Amino acid sequence: MRQGDCVADYTPTPEDRFAFGMWTIGHPGRDPFGDSTRPAIDPVDYVKGLADIGAWGVSFHDDDLMTFGAPESERRAQLDRFKKALDETGIVCSMATTNLFWHPLFKDGAFTSNDRDVRRYAIAKSMRNLDVAAELGAPTYVFWGGREGVETAASKEPQDALERYREALDFLAGYVKDKGYAIRFAIEPKPNEPRGDTFLPTVGHALAFIETLDNSEMVGLNPEVAHETMAGLSFYQGVAQALWQGKLFHIDLNDQKIGRYDQDLRFGSEGIKDDFFLVRLLENSGYAGPKHFDARPYRNEAGDGIWDFARGCMRTYLILKEKAKQFDANPRVKQAFADAGVPELAQPTVGPYSTASADALLSEKFDPETLASRGYRNEQLDQLVIDTILGA
Ligand code: GCO
Ligand code: MN
Ligand code: MN
Repeated sequence: MRQGDCVADYTPTPEDRFAFGMWTIGHPGRDPFGDSTRPAIDPVDYVKGLADIGAWGVSFHDDDLMTFGAPESERRAQLDRFKKALDETGIVCSMATTNLFWHPLFKDGAFTSNDRDVRRYAIAKSMRNLDVAAELGAPTYVFWGGREGVETAASKEPQDALERYREALDFLAGYVKDKGYAIRFAIEPKPNEPRGDTFLPTVGHALAFIETLDNSEMVGLNPEVAHETMAGLSFYQGVAQALWQGKLFHIDLNDQKIGRYDQDLRFGSEGIKDDFFLVRLLENSGYAGPKHFDARPYRNEAGDGIWDFARGCMRTYLILKEKAKQFDANPRVKQAFADAGVPELAQPTVGPYSTASADALLSEKFDPETLASRGYRNEQLDQLVIDTILGA
């Protein structure tokens, strides 16, 4: 971008498909050590605020919109108010999910509680909110198993727990199909917190689990930056594999320092280099789902500060998107890719097996010393990444 060129003002528009959870910007700042630092926002004001900042979508847990345990008429009125706000602003309901972690009844788990009645209740609660999701047109339904885990390994047979998890998702997929809802499921892995160990802790565990489901084609992933990062894993590599397997149904964007509790920081505020590669991956892959922020303002924000947080998430995404384009268009980067052999990895190695190609391979002469002497010029390539991000 030339100086004086004012194309890139990083103002988000609905075409960017930025979405926020109902529990994110309006998070009251409560944490395990301290009470709320700011008042909750009325859902209608929240939706209007999203429209004002150029967001496109909103997601919700059942209990974010409709008071837990309230009479049906009251819940209906709360839902109708919300629907009206969506209609008036054009904000789309991009995802829905069940709160299966807040109420004390879920303290031993939801789909994997040892108490069969709790498990049955959790499935029924999910079915009721699937009806709401369908009514609001949400195409994706997320399963984050916040309480599905243990503190002591003695408390659950893990294989029974996985069996019950599978049973619940199979049953709920059956419900969606039976009702004819156009909804797909997205599992959100997390290694720990609030439980000491969580079932389906990483993208890899969840991908493998999905293959065991009756309706695996309608189940994908909702990976989150913070969750893989907490485990010390590369979120980028996890997302890339989910894309490669056609399973990136949704994404939770935020930021996180490695090895900490789940910090839910503003997107792009910590791992800027990782975030650069993530945005580049999402943009270049043609991922068309929501860019959904599951993060929260610093606890010491108040008033308009919480909207600074929301604007910042989107702004940084758009800056990184522009940086990614610059990077890929830079002739020096193209040369560095060639020097590193990046395009060569896209070439098939041996092709499909045949006796002839096996014989040809075995008769080929390789010189290990020549192969070993090659340099891959990764230093110059990575320096170009840094130059691009820092705008040098
Ligand atoms: C967390 C999770 C949640 C889920 C949300 C929707 O660590 O608390 O990321 O925020 O994403 O419950 O499923
Ligand atoms: Mn999280
Ligand atoms: Mn999340």
